[in-house]
Amino acid sequence: MNKLPLHGSRGSHNSLSSGLARAAGLVLALSLVAPAWANDSQRLRTRALAATCAHCHGTDGHAVAGEPLVSLAGLSKDHLLTQLLAFRTGQRPATIMHQITRGYSQEQLEELSVYFAALK
Ligand code: HEC
Repeated sequence: MNKLPLHGSRGSHNSLSSGLARAAGLVLALSLVAPAWANDSQRLRTRALAATCAHCHGTDGHAVAGEPLVSLAGLSKDHLLTQLLAFRTGQRPATIMHQITRGYSQEQLEELSVYFAALK
């Protein structure tokens, strides 16, 4: 009586792990053929993150002329990242950026800095 459920659960465990092995094989195969695709999806991800900044800093980091907010496009990567991290830690006082920057990981803030620095 004990053997049946045990056998059953081993059976399903085996098919689960062979499914996982197949999935791992697929992931491996995809990662071998997909460097260009990965770059595209990385770029889209960064653009999606940067789109949230457009409300205040303008499309593609170009602030609307006559508005008080700074353009981000073309500022140096180091300046951008330093400011973003200073907002995040509270070192630089802010009305809103301290809240916004806490919604992003350090890697995402670095991505955003590289992205805006590269825009003209
Ligand atoms: C709700 C409006 C708003 C949004 C959205 C916004 N910002 Fe800001 N940003 C500001 C304001 C206002 C300041 C001035 C500091 C403050 O008072 O928070 C600022 C300042 C900055 C500065 C400092 C610029 C400098 O040279 O001193 C950087 C860098 C910056 N923002 C980057 C970003 C990035 C990157 C995003 C998107 C993740 C973003 N901001 C989204 C309003 C916004």
